[in-house]
Amino acid sequence: MASDAEVTPASRADSSAIRLERRADGVAVIRIDVPGESVNTLRGPFAVELEAALDAIEGEAAISAVVVASGKPDGFVAGADIKELLAARSAREITELSRRGQAALARLAALEKPVIAAIHGACLGGGLELALACHGRVASTDEKTKLGLPEVRLGLLPALGGTQRLPRLIGVEAALDLILTGKQLDAKRAQRLGLVDEVVAAAIVEDVAVKLALRRAAGPAVPRAGGKRKAFTEALLVKNPLGRAVFFEQAKKRTLAKTHGNYPAAERILDVVRLGLSRGMEAGLGAESAAFGELAEGSEARELMGLFFAQNELKKDSGVADPSIEPRKVRRVAVLGAGLMGAGIAYVTAVGAKLSVRLKDRDERSVGRGMAHLAELIGERARTRRMSNFERDREAARITPATNYDGFDGVDLVIEAVFEDLTLKRTVLAETLTNGGKNLIFASNTSSLPISRIAEGSVAPERVLGMHYFSPVPKMPLLEVITTEHTAPWVTATAVELGKKQGKTVIVVRDGAGFYTSRILGPYLNEATHLLGEGVPIEVIDAALVRFGFPVGPLTLLDEVGIDVGVKVGKILHDAFGERMAPPPGIERLVEDERFGKKNGRGFYDYAGKKRGEREVDRSVYAVLGVEPKADLAPSDAAERCVLALVNEAVHCLGDGILRSARDGDIGAVFGLGFPPFRGGPFRYIDGVGALEIVRRLEHHEKVHGHRFRPAPLLSELARTNGSFQGKQRAC
Ligand code: NAI
Repeated sequence: MASDAEVTPASRADSSAIRLERRADGVAVIRIDVPGESVNTLRGPFAVELEAALDAIEGEAAISAVVVASGKPDGFVAGADIKELLAARSAREITELSRRGQAALARLAALEKPVIAAIHGACLGGGLELALACHGRVASTDEKTKLGLPEVRLGLLPALGGTQRLPRLIGVEAALDLILTGKQLDAKRAQRLGLVDEVVAAAIVEDVAVKLALRRAAGPAVPRAGGKRKAFTEALLVKNPLGRAVFFEQAKKRTLAKTHGNYPAAERILDVVRLGLSRGMEAGLGAESAAFGELAEGSEARELMGLFFAQNELKKDSGVADPSIEPRKVRRVAVLGAGLMGAGIAYVTAVGAKLSVRLKDRDERSVGRGMAHLAELIGERARTRRMSNFERDREAARITPATNYDGFDGVDLVIEAVFEDLTLKRTVLAETLTNGGKNLIFASNTSSLPISRIAEGSVAPERVLGMHYFSPVPKMPLLEVITTEHTAPWVTATAVELGKKQGKTVIVVRDGAGFYTSRILGPYLNEATHLLGEGVPIEVIDAALVRFGFPVGPLTLLDEVGIDVGVKVGKILHDAFGERMAPPPGIERLVEDERFGKKNGRGFYDYAGKKRGEREVDRSVYAVLGVEPKADLAPSDAAERCVLALVNEAVHCLGDGILRSARDGDIGAVFGLGFPPFRGGPFRYIDGVGALEIVRRLEHHEKVHGHRFRPAPLLSELARTNGSFQGKQRAC
């Protein structure tokens, strides 16, 4: 706050989130500063506190203009307090919460004195709705500044007027894009959309907001922000009921094609925005808060909010039970193998964790290929303006290529991503330990080799663990850290900390065939191929799981992972777990037929000569497998069988001690495999359906299809005691 004006803090109750400061130049600052918290969130009493501030502002003639700013150094308002929503007893109570907030913001918006928001840091959800109720917005260029309405990601909709004010400010199309995706914008992008009026350096945001407020107070009415709206489309939408009907019908179709009706929030958002346009702001606000109450009570929002908390909890989790264990500082990382995975890991280490990386491969040609891939990844960020050219060069300079172990004595942690070959992995481990310092950590990104087998015979098994990334590494949010019985706790904690810095959600699992994610994926994919073997058409199987909520069907996924890789991992799982993981007979014939999936254009689908995203079922697969597809065979339990196989195996993992908690199992399945987030993950899904019912269904399939559906012991126990995984977790 660089101002020479006198600032007089108003008195306030200690628990209030709002401080009213009166400046000598006639500007009042409504400062939001939730006591005792590092981040501002809007809570129930906020509406009352804001109204009290507005009473004072309206009553004092000396106040000519208002600025809304944050008392936190690096955040505006991050959203509404979700815990409060989960604690609310009924839809009506939640609707009422929204109504009170809406009324306070409506008063702010109707204030005759100009009100400008000074935005630095996260301005999300309720925070952006507060800013939207102001008459202008100044935002900082800082990378922490993010504007967005992420409610849809929690199965909700903005309920403090966001669905009404945003379309009026930036146009319906741009507003729907923001509200339906929940995406976050930096200040420059927000300015291009007309969401903010001025973008300035963080240090002067408040000063500029004060000046803008004073200018508006002194001068004639200034046209408010508003983007480059497509005037024609907007006229059609706002003024022409027929045009509006066509636009919203199309938007609904597009939304349903994506959500398959699994995300009611998206549909409600369209309804509420549309209603506000046709019947006016008041009606729109009423519909908004009613929809909010209903959605917040629904199972989708409850599961999504549950996941959100689980993810937040994991951010604070060190990965080890002993709270006295501290992660060691990692300054330099080396990556062995500059292939697809190695380059991706180097990227998240340099760009996400901002650490220097040595990228080593066996020869110059291979390391050069990896460096070129990295230049492309980093260049892409600069092209899409998420990074300046200066930053791009700085990030790129963090990565240095290598073909030998020179300098490894200064490296703290090595991640290997060489070919999937046990002997090779053992060789590079031995070489690394010989060339590195005595505290060097060695992490393997193997997808299927047990870490303990790699560490066997090594001189320092306590410094060996797994860091299993998912492809494509820059995009996939999960990291599975795998520990053996020898891994030292400080080694685990250090790997977890690095993963978080790389921007990953990290779960720690115990070593074992398939770790966690591949182990539960195995029976899921197996079941899909069992269905195929029974003659259920490929597209029917995939469609059933997409309807259940997976982003792609299991056979499409197998094509993407590689059928050869799937068969290989399937064999490892079969060897480890016996009959329940037995693949259907004949599946290896696909590999003999050189059907490796998408990578060679031949799999369950035919990709040859097709544009990206286009493909058709390759009907010749049926002959290879010796099955006759029955066009009319669409068993209603196709999705159920695949899902039960997955969730039952997840419970085995918890029972066997592979997982530390049901929470980790939910996070791993959702963020690593695309298990439908609105179903909360395998364990929350079981809780939602009820353990007893899940066991009943498993036993039914066990009778029909055999041993592989036998309920996991822990699941049977839970069904017997009528318990739930969440209840179990709370009891721990
Ligand atoms: P890739 O074939 O693209 O890359 C492997 C790289 O290792 C090549 O550049 C090769 O030249 C290099 N290499 C071989 N011997 C080496 C040595 N002695 N020293 C240094 N570099 C050496 O393979 P990709 O897909 O990157 O996989 C690497 C590892 O990651 C494998 O263990 C794989 O199982 C695992 N993984 C792969 C995933 C995927 O989706 N591709 C997902 C998760 C793990």
